[in-house]
Amino acid sequence: MIYLDNSATTKPYKEVLDSYQTVAMDFFGNPSSVHGLGGEAELILKKAKSQIKTMLNTEHDIIFTSGGTESNNLAIKGIAHELRDRGNHIITTTVEHPSVLEVCRHLEQNGFSVTYLPVNENGKITVDQVNAAIQKDTILVSVMHVNNEIGAIQPIEEIADLLISHPRIRFHTDHVQGLGKINLPYNHGGIDAITISGHKIHGLKGTGCLLKKKNLVLQTLSHGGSQEFGYRAGTENVAGAVSLAKAIRYAVEEQKNYQHLAKLKDLLIEELLTYGRIHINSDEDCADHIINFSITGVKPEVMIHAFEEKDVILSTKSACSSKNEDASYVLLACGRDDDVASSAIRLSMDVNQDRQDIVEFNKVLKDVMEQYKDVMG
Ligand SMILES: Cc1ncc(COP(=O)(O)O)c(C=O)c1O
Repeated sequence: MIYLDNSATTKPYKEVLDSYQTVAMDFFGNPSSVHGLGGEAELILKKAKSQIKTMLNTEHDIIFTSGGTESNNLAIKGIAHELRDRGNHIITTTVEHPSVLEVCRHLEQNGFSVTYLPVNENGKITVDQVNAAIQKDTILVSVMHVNNEIGAIQPIEEIADLLISHPRIRFHTDHVQGLGKINLPYNHGGIDAITISGHKIHGLKGTGCLLKKKNLVLQTLSHGGSQEFGYRAGTENVAGAVSLAKAIRYAVEEQKNYQHLAKLKDLLIEELLTYGRIHINSDEDCADHIINFSITGVKPEVMIHAFEEKDVILSTKSACSSKNEDASYVLLACGRDDDVASSAIRLSMDVNQDRQDIVEFNKVLKDVMEQYKDVMG
């Protein structure tokens, strides 16, 4: 099988799973308990945090969560509600993941006002757009690092530089698709909160964290115990935290292999360009691991199953929205027509992917295009 759906999820590394199992069995105490077993578990949890801080080279606090969705909710709602007395305006983009967009829509229903910055044809915004959107009552900017559908990379560092001179505005970035692939200055003074998800980097589903600047105060979403600085009540998932630290270690180490994906992307694009029916939606500035293209004239689900029959796994749009047949809102936001936006296929690579995988993919593509040429008309 050639698995090319790594932006939906990755296969956990055995070492990550082993670390989970060891901690779950050997250190099962509750970190809040006063006895020795509890103390051991607490120590392990602290160690996982300090390892993540060292690996990412950041002083930020780490709040363990269940993944990207929860981290985005905690950051955006937590900041918005905490700073409500100061203002109620939020800036984001039209191409964020639903775990940001739906949170913003929810906040709009609760009295906040949100500016959704439009993107250019490549899915990108500029720092000037952010600057122009800032109002007296702006409290939060939330812009994703790497887009999950097309791989567009947003100018996070430039936005952070800009926001340094607006100390009343908080800046959150969703780094779920960037970790282990594209550098992010984790310690930049202009970035207040960063979302990370474990299962996109060969970690376990249900693991993730929010990095947050020490002085950033959030309003908590879950009330109860005082775990995780009081921001996430409930007994900590110590084994999950350790497994996340392990997955982050691999992601950081393996980023040095990322460069070779550029060559694989070239090989792929070269082949895609030979078909008149195929429209490429990820430009050359996009991250190399995500390539989005549309095969117009055939439903993308039909194509996905045709590839699957030949042991190649791809996806339509993103996993969160691929079961509804509507056009991709990301591609519509990039100005694509309905036809292109509703026939998108996403191929997402892992850093360990090799040339042979793409050579094989290109052969299968040829077969599938041949098989469906009459249907396409
Ligand atoms: C950019 C982005 N943000 C957030 C998420 C949500 O992450 P999780 O599945 O860990 O909740 C995803 C998942 O697809 C994503 O791609």
